[in-house]
Amino acid sequence: MSTNQIALKHLVSMELLSNEEVLSLIKRGIEFKNGEKVSYDDQHIVSNLFFESSTRTHKAFEVAELKLGLDLLDFDSKTSSVNKGETLYDTILTLSALGVDVCVIRHPEVDYYKELIDSPTITASIVNGGDGSGQHPSQSLLDLMTIYEEFGHFDGLKVAIAGDLKHSRVAKSNMMILKRLGAELYFAGPEEWRTAEFAEYGTFVTIDEVIDKVDVMMFLRVQHERHDEYSAFSINNYHKAHGLNQERYDRLQEHAIIMHPAPVNRGVEIADELVEAPKSRIVQQMTNGVFVRMAIIEAVLKGREENR
Ligand code: CP
Repeated sequence: MSTNQIALKHLVSMELLSNEEVLSLIKRGIEFKNGEKVSYDDQHIVSNLFFESSTRTHKAFEVAELKLGLDLLDFDSKTSSVNKGETLYDTILTLSALGVDVCVIRHPEVDYYKELIDSPTITASIVNGGDGSGQHPSQSLLDLMTIYEEFGHFDGLKVAIAGDLKHSRVAKSNMMILKRLGAELYFAGPEEWRTAEFAEYGTFVTIDEVIDKVDVMMFLRVQHERHDEYSAFSINNYHKAHGLNQERYDRLQEHAIIMHPAPVNRGVEIADELVEAPKSRIVQQMTNGVFVRMAIIEAVLKGREENR
């Protein structure tokens, strides 16, 4: 029997989902992975608007929408009226007025979605594909789906998140929901990228203090594009102090898994030859991204149907 499908008006932040909604989306993603099909009688138009570079999120949403049989409306920020100074608000107001049902948006501004979901005029549903260093809920859900497939639960799991904490929307989305689901969190990586908010959710450690104790070792990409301060970054020094090398890999518990949202800076966060190692779930994360995004879009379309 299929999982009870949830209905969402928008999906913008993990903070706005209950634990039950999170588990329903994960289970529905697994059903889609196992071959569940849906078809819609009415036309539904989706547009993916990416104002920051993306391969996984952008293309996984597209594949998810194609698998659901939806109509995709192309949007290219480089040739749109954004180039004439049109704001994000007016762009979404326009697509909504044209009849677009769902806008999937990635944008560099933290919380860009607030004015869109608060608007009395915009009727399109908003799905956040990443807002600056704020939230990345679809990545978080695919990460949770991957952990759930491995362990079947979250309660009591030891999860370490290592790397560029300060600039990572993945770390922020995951720490909050993983703690709420009962996981025990550790944070590793350079001290200059630690911020006070992480201390509320877990314990700061070095990778060497924790690598042989965790169930999940999650690495983060070093986000050079968000580093405004001058940084004498050294690949070799970073990899040696904070990255996954063979010696650290060999210290992982038998059942432990490695995760990374990707793109991976090979040889920086993870040694090149370990990216696809047996304990790595990085490829599985990308695949799961399609199926959990099918669950997200389905939930948003159900929300629209119920509010008609
Ligand atoms: N993980 C992730 O968000 O990758 P993209 O930037 O390629 O979408």
